[in-house]
Amino acid sequence: MRVLIAYRSKYGTTAACARILGQRIRAEAVVVDLARQPWPDAHEFDVVLIGGSIYGAKIQREVTTFCHRQREELLSRKVGLFLCSMYQGEQAQAELRGAYPEWLSAHAFANRLFGGELHRDRLTLWDRFSLLGNPRWSQEVLLMDAAAIESMAAAVNALIHVA
Ligand SMILES: Cc1cc2nc3c(=O)[nH]c(=O)nc-3n(C[C@H](O)[C@H](O)[C@H](O)COP(=O)(O)O)c2cc1C
Repeated sequence: MRVLIAYRSKYGTTAACARILGQRIRAEAVVVDLARQPWPDAHEFDVVLIGGSIYGAKIQREVTTFCHRQREELLSRKVGLFLCSMYQGEQAQAELRGAYPEWLSAHAFANRLFGGELHRDRLTLWDRFSLLGNPRWSQEVLLMDAAAIESMAAAVNALIHVA
């Protein structure tokens, strides 16, 4: 079984999650940054895991474009979706629901929130400025959810025995 993990990350959190996920999967896992072209073809893989992070309530444009361009291939494969974001609880669930096209969320065998991190020293001046009104995000935040990553890896590993 071949697994593609296609992700987009601005400051490295989603990239780190994608790498950890790849290490936990007991099959060939190819980890690809959607910031770089050419993008892989989903039809070369049995399972496709897609991840991104939230900025101003939206997932990165490359993730959305990747999903729409490969719609037919994705709908004929096992797909898992994950998201890095800062909110928790219902607000985070709402972000996850809104991040991916409805047709893909409905098709996915797993949807997971991996938490988020904020490393203030990595932020561009613009991003620092845009967070000024949010006192909750005035310091470092380290809320990556290792259990959620393990849970998604377990869901993928369960497919190996079925396949
Ligand atoms: C400028 C800015 C805007 C953000 N907007 C949101 C948001 O609307 N909702 C949210 O849950 N997290 C938001 N975040 C938090 C990021 O989603 C979080 O830091 C995530 O871990 C970033 O992952 P990345 O480094 O892979 O891009 C924001 C972060 C920054 C720096």
